[in-house]
Amino acid sequence: MDAAQWDERYRASAGGVWAAEPPAVVREITASLRPGTTIDVATGDGRTALWLAARGWTTTGVDFSTEALALAAARPGGDAVTWVRGDVTTWEPVASVDLVVSCYLHLPDSAAAVARMAEWVAPGGVLVVVGHDVDNIAAGGHGPADPAILYTPELLRGAVDERFHVARCGRMTRSPADAELRGGHAAHAVDTLLHAVRVR
Ligand SMILES: C[S@@+](CC[C@H](N)C(=O)[O-])C[C@H]1O[C@@H](n2cnc3c(N)ncnc32)[C@H](O)[C@@H]1O
Repeated sequence: MDAAQWDERYRASAGGVWAAEPPAVVREITASLRPGTTIDVATGDGRTALWLAARGWTTTGVDFSTEALALAAARPGGDAVTWVRGDVTTWEPVASVDLVVSCYLHLPDSAAAVARMAEWVAPGGVLVVVGHDVDNIAAGGHGPADPAILYTPELLRGAVDERFHVARCGRMTRSPADAELRGGHAAHAVDTLLHAVRVR
């Protein structure tokens, strides 16, 4: 989907598309980190950026949808986040950060996109990427049905180089209680998670 299609989806929503809070695994990983600077890549209506900002992170939320960013900025705590309109395949931050998070960003070349995000992580910093796994199609979970844009553990692991220690990379089953849609969904979903620490 291009930016205009995403704008349309957000415009058609009644005040937001995604769940109120970040995915449970993102909350779990980031809760153990000391707050610093962070980028929420493809922030959507801002659930992860807002959650991190509320916990003391100096947060930038990037998305190419103007409508998404308007919804995000209007949410409680929206003033605490720097919202940036940018296409993450070309956008660059002014400086590297302590934490880069990406949730459910699916692009034709996801490996290249994750490799770009990895460049934005400062030495000692953390990269967390979570998205729909190819196995999610067979599992019947909500999400895209095109395997070409879905993740596998091999794809995410291969997107970071030897400067990173991979703390965790693999498939995860997500319960309906951790749905990414605001209205929830009934089926279990299968995600891929990458949690990597930049060691040099
Ligand atoms: C499935 S939504 C996920 C939103 C958010 N990360 C979350 O989990 O709630 C995907 C988001 O990626 C954004 N997006 C897709 N391609 C993008 C690109 N090339 N650059 C910036 N944002 C993009 C869309 O506008 C949309 O908000």
